[in-house]
Amino acid sequence: MAHRITLIPGDGIGPEVTNAVVRILEATGVKFEWETFAVGADAYEKSGEYIPREVIESIERTRVVLKGPVTTPVGGGFSSINVALRRKFDLYANFRPIRNLPHIPTRYPDVDLIIVRENTEGLYSGLEHEVVPGVVESLKIITEKASTRIARFAFEYARRYQRKKIHAIHKANIMKMSDGLFLRCCRAVAKDYPDINYGEHIVDNTCMQLVMNPYQYDMLVMENLYGDILSDLCAAFVGGLGFVPSANIGDDCAMFEAVHGSAPDIAGKNLANPTALLRSALLMVRHLNEHGASTQIRNALERVYRHREKLTRDIGGQAGTSQFADAVIEEMQKGVAEPARV
Ligand code: NAI
Repeated sequence: MAHRITLIPGDGIGPEVTNAVVRILEATGVKFEWETFAVGADAYEKSGEYIPREVIESIERTRVVLKGPVTTPVGGGFSSINVALRRKFDLYANFRPIRNLPHIPTRYPDVDLIIVRENTEGLYSGLEHEVVPGVVESLKIITEKASTRIARFAFEYARRYQRKKIHAIHKANIMKMSDGLFLRCCRAVAKDYPDINYGEHIVDNTCMQLVMNPYQYDMLVMENLYGDILSDLCAAFVGGLGFVPSANIGDDCAMFEAVHGSAPDIAGKNLANPTALLRSALLMVRHLNEHGASTQIRNALERVYRHREKLTRDIGGQAGTSQFADAVIEEMQKGVAEPARV
């Protein structure tokens, strides 16, 4: 039976990386039935809606989304489509593994960090209004319910996958009430997991600590905005934004997308690295219990990464987005069975 997936190619580099990833997924032989939609500015031009009703109805049916990046205008214009979709489907856990790929020279070798970002509230929600001309208020809502469930998600994951340590990242020295509540929830949940070390670091210090020594951390759990910022910082450890995947997970729905944005500076030039979206698709394939396909892609990806000339330019290669996808598919067709840890 085919897996029905809602596919949102997005804009900017979105259609290029999505096309590459869909071709690779289809080369596994697993059957996918794609329900493909535009959102954001492209959708608005055609339908007058930023998230057309059919997109919502499709996600309600499929409960699985593969999504390319979508541009959000800066300092005005429409609100983030990403935030709206995460909130609409209560995709409360944003799971972002930061891991090196073999054979890629990076600033730090063998990084293996997981960021768990609360995805539904906090300052990142963009709840703002002008109080009087010249004065703007931005609301940071933190709830016990959302803080407890993200902490529970992180600890459950840690126990299931034998992770050793979780740090809650905060700014409760200044935001004593909101970040204070977040920390109290994390501490309460931590008590149920005596097998996992629990620590707390202030977010600004965490940035410095990460750059000095990322190996001191194992899993980091944090509010929405801190997660947004620290994910990009951590992407630099493993080769940049072309490498970091994410899964937005709710109780009965999941959306897989790269951490990066629509990269307008390289859009439409066949330059984007599709690895981040491919690794997000690997998380999706595992979510669908297609473990054979996941291994097949991981092995091929690892073999492609042994050849510098087959890589995209962000990592020092010469290949375009589509040539990179061709190289992965070619390796999959060779079908060498050897373990990889991509
Ligand atoms: P960005 O992630 O699009 O780009 C930052 C830098 O990384 C650029 O130099 C870009 O060329 C490079 N880069 C990103 N992805 C790459 C890839 N796959 N291969 C090679 N290089 C890559 O961040 P920026 O410029 O801050 O945001 C652009 C737009 O994307 C904004 O409108 C933002 O709101 C949106 N955005 C959307 C996201 C989503 O849909 N989930 C996530 C982040 C940003």
